[in-house]
Amino acid sequence: MRVEMRIDGETAAADIDRPGESLLSTLRDRLGLYGTKNACEQGECGSCTVLLDGDPVCSCLVATAQCEGREVKTVVGAVPRPVRDAFIACGAVQCGFCTPGLLVSVADLLDREDDPSDAVIREALAGNLCRCTGYEKIIDAVHAAAEAMAGAPPVRAADATEATP
Ligand code: FES
Ligand code: FES
Repeated sequence: MRVEMRIDGETAAADIDRPGESLLSTLRDRLGLYGTKNACEQGECGSCTVLLDGDPVCSCLVATAQCEGREVKTVVGAVPRPVRDAFIACGAVQCGFCTPGLLVSVADLLDREDDPSDAVIREALAGNLCRCTGYEKIIDAVHAAAEAMAGAPPVRAADATEATP
């Protein structure tokens, strides 16, 4: 079965041989797109978060067969530069295993909320587990990114990637 999608702004086709194959497996194992991480494969950790038609989902829980004609954005295409910079500047990246999923969730949050409170950030990121940072540096990074993006026109993923030298 061939499934065609848009992934980070590019058309992509994957030939899958089982109807239940997850989008996460297709991204990593068939298309060689390793930005999306596989940690639990059970919808528990959020490491595999991508945007599917603009909504954050655990790609390990989405069947690729359901993605025909849909828009997928991974950490490569979903995250404005200020969010990535803020994670580095605030020390919110340690082992990095949670980072791609967190970046996608933060990009989604800041697309909806210009200046989220700590409580709103914690709620938005509740599905993204991090065993290293204690979360405080991640929250600092979200505030720093929100500040950096204040006044800037909304920048969605692929635009930010294209603008990055
Ligand atoms: S790998 Fe999908 S939620 Fe953990
Ligand atoms: S930085 Fe290691 S799990 Fe989050």
